[in-house]
Amino acid sequence: MKGIILAGGHGTRLYPLTLAVSKQLLPVNDKPMIYYPLSALMLANITDILIISTPTDLPQLTRLLRDGSHLGLDITYAEQAQPVGLADAFIIGADHIGDDSVALVLGDNIFHGHSFFDILQQSTSDVDGCVLFGYPVSDPERYGIGETDADGRLISIEEKPANPRSNRAIVGLYLYDNDVVDIAKNLQPSARGELEITDVNRTYLERGKARLVDLGRGFAWLDAGTPESILQASQYVQVLEQRQGVRIACVEEIALRMGFIDAEACDRLGSELSASSYGRYVRSVAAEFRDSPSPN
Ligand code: G1P
Repeated sequence: MKGIILAGGHGTRLYPLTLAVSKQLLPVNDKPMIYYPLSALMLANITDILIISTPTDLPQLTRLLRDGSHLGLDITYAEQAQPVGLADAFIIGADHIGDDSVALVLGDNIFHGHSFFDILQQSTSDVDGCVLFGYPVSDPERYGIGETDADGRLISIEEKPANPRSNRAIVGLYLYDNDVVDIAKNLQPSARGELEITDVNRTYLERGKARLVDLGRGFAWLDAGTPESILQASQYVQVLEQRQGVRIACVEEIALRMGFIDAEACDRLGSELSASSYGRYVRSVAAEFRDSPSPN
C-alpha cells in the first residue's frame, strides 16, 4: 500500500501564523505537526510516501523530512498549485499510486490510541473498496459525516451538513483500492468548486464498497486547523508525554519499532538532536531497544 500526506492549502484560518510557515510545520507540543500524520502511515507499515503541498511550502517540508531514508522511508514530493480539493491528491498522485492501494492522511490530523496500531494492521490488509474511520464529535457540521443503520453499516455520507444526521465524523485518514484514481479523475467539482473527498467516498458507498470502522470514544482524534485546536492538541500531547515519559508520534522511535531502521541509526538521529529533550528521548529509546528489543 502506498501513502499520501496532503499538506496543501494556505492555512488561512491560522493567519498570521501561516503567512511565512507551512501549517503542517507548526509545533504540536514538541514536534512539527506533520510528524503525527506521518506516524499514522508508518504504523500502518507504509514506507512509500508522497507528500503533496504548495510550491512555497514544499521546500520547507523537504528540508525537514528529506528523502525519508534516514527513517527507512521513501518520501517523494509533489506540488498542488491551487487548493482544488482533497480528492485532487489521487490525480496528482496517480503515478505514485501506480497499481497499488493507497492510504491518504490529511496533514493536520492527529491520531492517538492504544488500539491504533492493531486497527491499522487489520484495516490495511487487502482493501477492497474503501475503509473510512468514524469518530464521535460535538460539532458535526464541521466535518464529513457518516450515518449508519442499526447494524452499523454506512448508509449516507455528507460533507459539512447544516443538519447532521449523526455526530459521527469521517476522520482525515482514508484507505482505498486502486479504483480511487479513476473515481477522482471523473469527479465534478462541488458547489464550493472543490473535488470533494466525500464525493469519492459516496461513489464507493453507492457501489456497496465503503466500510466504516468506528474509532470509538477511548481514542483521540484531533485536527489542528485553528489556533485553538493546535493549542488543545499540544496540551493533550504534553499531558500524556509528561505523565507517561513517552513521546507520541516520535517518528524515529516508530521507525525503530517498526523495523525500518536499527538501534544504531536511531541513536545517530537522536545524537543530531541531542540539544533537545526530544533528541535525548530518541537516544534513550535506541539504548533501551538495544538492551531489550520490543516490537510496537
Ligand atoms: C476535510 C474533509 C472532511 C473531514 C475532515 C477531517 O475537511 O472534507 O470530510 O471530516 O477533513 O479533518 P476540512 O478540514 O478540510 O474542512
